[in-house]
Amino acid sequence: MGGSENVEIDTSVVHSARRYDYWLGGKDNFAADRESGDAIASRFPSVPLAAQENRKFLRRAVTYLSKEVGIRQFLDIGTGIPAANNTHEVAQSIAPESRVVYVDNDPIVLVHARALLSSSPEGATAYLDADFHEPERILEDPDLQRVLDLSQPVGLMLIAILHFMKEADRPYENVARLVDALPSGSHLTVTNATLDFAAPQDAADARAMLGHEMEWRSSAELARFFDGMTLIEPGVVPVSEWRPEETDRPAPAQVSSYGAMGAK
Ligand SMILES: C[S@@+](CC[C@H](N)C(=O)[O-])C[C@H]1O[C@@H](n2cnc3c(N)ncnc32)[C@H](O)[C@@H]1O
Repeated sequence: MGGSENVEIDTSVVHSARRYDYWLGGKDNFAADRESGDAIASRFPSVPLAAQENRKFLRRAVTYLSKEVGIRQFLDIGTGIPAANNTHEVAQSIAPESRVVYVDNDPIVLVHARALLSSSPEGATAYLDADFHEPERILEDPDLQRVLDLSQPVGLMLIAILHFMKEADRPYENVARLVDALPSGSHLTVTNATLDFAAPQDAADARAMLGHEMEWRSSAELARFFDGMTLIEPGVVPVSEWRPEETDRPAPAQVSSYGAMGAK
């Protein structure tokens, strides 16, 4: 789906992928992204830390799926601008034959997709310029079909993307359509921003500042994405508390994001 030629990038408009890249210390962002990122971080100073914790969760989740479950295929929707420890790098460091399909709808990610295609020789990667709201188009894409065998378990990764989906976008329905197309043994992994740990004034300010673009979810709302699946221990928890490797961890209010994994 598409190539990186003729991609038009409007650098004057904030893009979530570039703002997130800025918080992660990346270089693929522009003045509008940095201004928005600084404005949010000046009111919520732990936001860059939250982005980093989300990224660490992604690494631990892929490691768990590769090492403990034996998953060898991943569908990573809402990939973002390549950063350290992209899904294929983590998976292929454990099992070089791992196959990964990345999907994002932001043209800036498409421009950088080459870095996501640096597969090990034994495995394979593909990048689709496609939208989460079109699950069938993603699943039927020839590049996806070339790289993934949908008769074998898949690790479906929806990391820091669902909080951009309002209820009107039918996120539960779209996630279910993706999960329905995968065989049993597949796993769904999700992170989503939450205000469950925020002080009332912080929650009110967050809604006023970002409510137009974000949908924070409670643990019960996050658990709904896993209806009909088996939640993997420890269930729906702050991303930093999901199978942690470090003893010194930020408080849930600093992270303000839930992570969870379920098995079909
Ligand atoms: C905050 S970044 C997360 C990147 C990566 N998953 C991570 O956790 O490090 C969210 C990504 O979701 C992408 N995204 C948002 N809405 C999307 C949609 N409807 N379809 C596909 N990608 C989308 C954005 O372009 C952005 O790259």
